[in-house]
Amino acid sequence: MPDIRRRLLPLLGHSGGSRDAMTCLYRCGNACDHPVPNETDNPYLGDVVSSAMSRRGLLAAGGAGALVLGLSSTPAIAATPASAAPAPVALKGGKAGPLTFKAIPPNQLDSLIVPNGYDSSVVIRWGDPVVPGAPEFSLGRQTAKAQSLQFGYNNDFVGVIPISDDRALLVVNHEYTNEELMFPGFTSLDALSVEQLKVAMAAHGLSVVEIERVGRSGQWTPVRSKRLRYNRRITALETRFRLTGPAAGTPALRTAADPKGYTVIGTLNNCAGGVTPWGTVLSGEENFNQYFVGGDAVPEADKAKLNRYGISTTARYPSGSRKWERAQERFDLAKHPNEANRFGWIVEVDPFDPDAPPRKHTAMGRFKHEGANVIVARSGHVVAYMGDDERFDYLYKFVSAGKYKKNDRRHNLTLLESGTLYVAQVKGDSPAAEIDGSGKLPSDGAFDGTGKWIKLVSGTTSYVPGMTAAEVLTFTRLAGDKVGATKMDRPEDVQPSLKTGKIYAAMTNNTNRGVGSNPGVDEANPRNTNKHGHIFEITEDNGDHTGLTFTWSLPIVCGDPAAADTYFGGYDKTKVSPISCPDNVAFDSAGNLWISTDGNALGSNDGLFATPIEGPDRGRVKQFLTVPRGAETCGPFITGDDRSVFVAVQHPGEISGATVDKPASTWPDGDYAKPGVVVTWRLDGGPVGS
Ligand code: FEO
Ligand code: CA
Ligand code: CA
Ligand code: CA
Repeated sequence: MPDIRRRLLPLLGHSGGSRDAMTCLYRCGNACDHPVPNETDNPYLGDVVSSAMSRRGLLAAGGAGALVLGLSSTPAIAATPASAAPAPVALKGGKAGPLTFKAIPPNQLDSLIVPNGYDSSVVIRWGDPVVPGAPEFSLGRQTAKAQSLQFGYNNDFVGVIPISDDRALLVVNHEYTNEELMFPGFTSLDALSVEQLKVAMAAHGLSVVEIERVGRSGQWTPVRSKRLRYNRRITALETRFRLTGPAAGTPALRTAADPKGYTVIGTLNNCAGGVTPWGTVLSGEENFNQYFVGGDAVPEADKAKLNRYGISTTARYPSGSRKWERAQERFDLAKHPNEANRFGWIVEVDPFDPDAPPRKHTAMGRFKHEGANVIVARSGHVVAYMGDDERFDYLYKFVSAGKYKKNDRRHNLTLLESGTLYVAQVKGDSPAAEIDGSGKLPSDGAFDGTGKWIKLVSGTTSYVPGMTAAEVLTFTRLAGDKVGATKMDRPEDVQPSLKTGKIYAAMTNNTNRGVGSNPGVDEANPRNTNKHGHIFEITEDNGDHTGLTFTWSLPIVCGDPAAADTYFGGYDKTKVSPISCPDNVAFDSAGNLWISTDGNALGSNDGLFATPIEGPDRGRVKQFLTVPRGAETCGPFITGDDRSVFVAVQHPGEISGATVDKPASTWPDGDYAKPGVVVTWRLDGGPVGS
C-alpha cells in the first residue's frame, strides 16, 4: 500500500472491494456498498445443464475454430471502406515469440515502470488538443466547449487502427471523471457550477486521434496539423447517437425529447471495448446507473427493472450520483423515467466517418457492458463475446444474423444490428463437495467443466417466457435471471484469441462470494470472498463460435503465488509474478495473453502482465509494467506488428483525500495527476515481450 494511502485510510469510510474509496464513489457509484443487484435465486451452478454435454470440442477446437483474420490483437483489416479513404490496413509483421523480458517487481512508485530494454512515452493526456482549433488546456478555467475539443478524462479502452505503416487512428474511451482531481478548490459535487458539471459531461465519451510513428521505432505520437480529418470527440454532453436493432423505437426507449425512441444524446461510463475486423470500435456503457436520480418517483411497474440495474428506487439521491440533473433535467428519472433505458448498450463508432452518428446496438442487449470483442466464425457469422461487470452477473455472446463479407464494409457495418443473443450457464465436472471455497484444486486437478449458451432472443423472437424481444434486449439482466444464467465473479473484458479461437474472460473479484446470504462457490467461481479474481477460458465445442455448448477451465486463479489458493496453469509458482484483480485482456501475435489489473489487493500498484497460455509455460505470468500511484491499468493494446504496447493510465492519484491542489500523484508532468495513454516499445525495435 502506498504510504500516502496508508496515511489517508483512516479518513475513509469504506470499502467493500480492494479499490480506494474515491474510485468506488466516482467510477461505479459505490457499487460494493450497495446490495448486490442480482437477488434472483436462479442456480449459480446450472443444474439444468444437459449432463450429456460433450467434451469432444476441447480437442476439436483451436486454430481451425475461426477465420483467423489477423496475427495479433489487431484484427487484420482487409475491408475497403465504402466511402472514406484511406482504408484501415494491417501492420506488417507479427513477430512475437516466447516471453523473454525480465519481469519487473511489484512496487508503489509514482511512475510508469517498464522492463530493462524498453522505453515508454505519453501519447496523449487529459486536456491535450484533439479537434483542430482546440484551445490550450487551462486548469481552473476549463469550459465545456474547450473540453469538448480536448482529450477527455479517465481513458480506459484503447484501440489502434492503422491506416498505413506509420499512421493510425487511436480510439479511446473516457469512462468517468474525478472532479476532485479536475477542479482547483473543489469542495463537493453539490458545489460545482453548472458549467463545471458540463465540463465533466464533455470529459466523458470517446476520442479519435490520428497518430504517427516516431522514426522507425515502436513509439507513436499525435499528428499535429490543422487538417485532421478523423480527429473527433464524442461526449456525454451533446453527441447524437442512433439506436439500432429490435428495441430501437420501442416504448421503453422513448422520452419527451425523443418521442420516436431512436436518438440518444451522449454515452456514459464507457469502459472496455474492441476493434472489429471492419475497422470500427465497440465500446461498453457500464455503470450508467450512478448518473440518475429520482428513481423513487418512477411508475411502480418500472422499479424492479431499475433496481436490477443498480438504480435506487427508495431515495432521490442515491450515493454516487453525479448531480448531472442540475445541468440536464433528463438525468432526473422522476421527470424522464425512460432516460436510463437509453444507456447500458454496446456502442459502435466508425472512426473513418467522423460525421456519422455513433450507434447503440440494442440487438446486443443492455446490461453493465464491460466491452465487446468479435471473431468471425467459420460460417462467416460475426460473434461478439461480452461481460456484465457486476458481482453475480453474467457472460453473454451475440451471433450476427448476417455474414462477414471481406470486401464489403458497408454491409459489415450493419452486422451488429441483428442477430441472436445468448447467456452462459456453466457447470463444473468435479463433485460439489470438492469445491470448498478455499481455492484448493479438486481431485481432477482443475477447476473446469462444461457450459451452454442459452438463447434469449433471435431477431425479433423472444425465447424468454413472459418477455417480448424488446423487453429481453432492454432488460437483459432480468431475462438472464429467468433462464438460470450462471452468476459469475464480475465478468470484465472477454476476448477471443485469434490464434486459437479460445475465449478469455477476466473475473475481476467478488468479495461477496459466499458471504451472508450471497451465493456460495461453484467450480467456475471457486473461492469465497474472492479478493483477487481469476481468468475464465472458454473453448467452443468443435471450435464453432456459433454453437450452443463449450468447455471451460480456469488457467489462472490470481493472487499471491505463495498462497495456497492461487493457481498459475500448473507452472512453478515460485517463478511467476503476483497478480491481482484482472480486468482487461489482449493478445500478441504469438497468442500470449496480456492482462491488465484494476485494484491490486496485494498492495502494489496496478500493472500489465503477460503469460503464455498454451504449452508447458501456460500460466508463467510475468509483470511487464506498472502504472503510477492510485492508477488502474487499462487498454491494453498490442499493435499488429508487435512493436508497440499501448496502455491507458486511468485515474492516477485517485486516493481518498487527494485533490488537484494536493495531489497524491504528479504523473505524468510533475505537477498534478492527469490520466493519459502511454506507448511502450523495445529500444532495439524488436517485438515487445519477446
Ligand atoms: Fe469499468 Fe468493469 O470496469
Ligand atoms: Ca474439475
Ligand atoms: Ca474495466
Ligand atoms: Ca481487451
